[in-house]
Amino acid sequence: MARHAVLAGVGGYLPKLIVTNDDLARSLDTSDEWIRERTGIRQRHVASAEETAAMMGAAAARAALRQAGAGPDEVDAIILATSTPDQAFPATAVRVQAALGVTNGFAFDIAAACSGFIYALSVADGMIRAGQASGVLVIGAEVYSRILDWQDRTTCVLFGDGAGAVFLHAAEGAPTAATACVLSTHLHADGRHGDILYVDGAVGLRERPGTLVMNGSAVFRHAVVNLAGAVEEALAANHLERTAIDWLVPHQANRRIIDAMGKKLGLAPERVVVTIDRHANTSAASIPLALAEAVGDGRIRPGHLVLMEALGGGLTWGSALVRM
Ligand code: UT7
Repeated sequence: MARHAVLAGVGGYLPKLIVTNDDLARSLDTSDEWIRERTGIRQRHVASAEETAAMMGAAAARAALRQAGAGPDEVDAIILATSTPDQAFPATAVRVQAALGVTNGFAFDIAAACSGFIYALSVADGMIRAGQASGVLVIGAEVYSRILDWQDRTTCVLFGDGAGAVFLHAAEGAPTAATACVLSTHLHADGRHGDILYVDGAVGLRERPGTLVMNGSAVFRHAVVNLAGAVEEALAANHLERTAIDWLVPHQANRRIIDAMGKKLGLAPERVVVTIDRHANTSAASIPLALAEAVGDGRIRPGHLVLMEALGGGLTWGSALVRM
């Protein structure tokens, strides 16, 4: 019997501390005007010592389970995307598993930088379709504040911390484009561009945990081209026209990239979910955080067709089409 993955709940968590552009401009050669004009960012949330990827991921997962009306006994897999895990091992997903009181199944992390949520969603969908899991928490949780060089104005103003999660459960039957489920996911990577966005260290290097390094304009150019390809791919795979899309929930890296994608798809600006102004770029957490906001305030409703896309370090990129 064919199976498909129903998105039953979504939740998010943001750190309590908010840092505005003006706050940064007090100790850095930057300005609120530059940051807003070039990126669309007005503020970001920054984690305290207690707000780790595992802590925030567990909070987001609890909210997703609550919305789905599901308990920990219905979870048999946790797939967590992060580039800022609490520890080299165990996986942050396993820490979340323990925090939630889940004892079934398995849990593991995925590292695909800002594309991590799309990658994790794709793996979860595949495992549900294959019958390997029936209730999967897909989480993006990041504390980029810990890997930023706070003296580097070209990177530190861009990122924020947070976590988002969705709960997927299996349903039986072959889906059509009208079925409420993950319709398709599309993943890409091109390691030849690994040096335009990376962290120059690792947890395994005692003296050098590393900070984020980015050639912003090179990443920007790849984003505009590759994301356009990934969204066309998602529509073609489902024999859908652009007009079928109810919502674009994009990775939140730069307001100019988001606007370009919305325009390319012919979507009215109010059909594009934007959180970058308040969250900045939360990497793997940005899509589920944006989804949680738009579902929570009633914009995205059952039956709506949601297109997601992301690009990040790797380079990695991808898209997903989900019928809510
Ligand atoms: O999520 C992962 C994927 N990431 C992305 O998709 C990010 C893609 N890239 C971007 O969003 C943009 O390239 C940035 C926002 C990172 C940069 O915007 P840009 O329009 O490409 O600016 P730029 O890097 O070309 O810099 C323009 C100028 C430079 O000064 P000069 O060399 O022209 O004198 C920078 O030094 O702006 C300067 N600058 C700043 N000025 C004030 C860079 N950062 C700042 C800053 N405040 N924070």
